[in-house]
Amino acid sequence: TYVVTDACIKCKYTDCVEVCPVDCFYEGETMLVINPSECIDCGVCEPECPAEAILPDTESDLEQWLELNAKYSAEWPNITSQKDPPEDADEHKGEEGKFDKYFT
Ligand code: SF4
Ligand code: F3S
Repeated sequence: TYVVTDACIKCKYTDCVEVCPVDCFYEGETMLVINPSECIDCGVCEPECPAEAILPDTESDLEQWLELNAKYSAEWPNITSQKDPPEDADEHKGEEGKFDKYFT
């Protein structure tokens, strides 16, 4: 599966949603997540994210994000079309420590 990491927080560009063939993105207040049981591992979303927030879970140290994606994809609503990012999205691109600062 692919997972959305904290780099998405406060950015939410949603380009990823537009390309996913199985519509497995779910939207929270500050970020999106992927449902690991629906993701077919096609990889097309990874290069689409301007914040480089999406990674395959085969990369190291992604356990906490995989857990977060699994947990919240069961709680948050499905998102299937792109929408405007937050006005200050670019200011938060690449910012460190976004999870502790902003995650809700
Ligand atoms: Fe969707 Fe493919 Fe990305 Fe999985 S890897 S979330 S199926 S676009
Ligand atoms: Fe987030 Fe990147 Fe999608 S910022 S909403 S994972 S395009």
